Amino acid sequence: MKIYVLNGPNLNMLGVREPDIYGKTTYTELCEIIRSYAKENGVEVELYQSNHEGALVDKIQDAYFNGADGLIINPGAYTHTSIAILDAIKSTSLPTVEVHISNVYEREDFRHISYVALVAKERIIGHGFDGYKEALDYFTDNK
Ligand code: DQA
Repeated sequence: MKIYVLNGPNLNMLGVREPDIYGKTTYTELCEIIRSYAKENGVEVELYQSNHEGALVDKIQDAYFNGADGLIINPGAYTHTSIAILDAIKSTSLPTVEVHISNVYEREDFRHISYVALVAKERIIGHGFDGYKEALDYFTDNK
């Protein structure tokens, strides 16, 4: 099983960015956590982070053309604004799990809106970095 794990803008700043909200673990460390959990569970993962909306759209399309079985996406702030990312996911029909490290519902109102939620099979919100592991579990439990 091949799963694409996409992270949107400013998630490369994990560890530096608002540590009271996102913790002190870096994006590189997050990638190691995801890679080793995926390996333990026999899942092949492609990890990608971009600060650019169009680049994320391109990667979602790549996932489709490369025969991915699903997507895990934390679209960062694009969650709350991006119809392009919603449409890209819809275009591919890939099963998608939406992850947010923080509990967006305990934060500003503008973070309560999610376009990706309209298509996500599962949403994992506010479970910190474990959310990415739980998203992988979704795919292994539903294969
Ligand atoms: C986030 C929540 C978003 O509101 C924010 O813009 C992010 C990260 C999260 O993982 O908690 O960049 O998606």
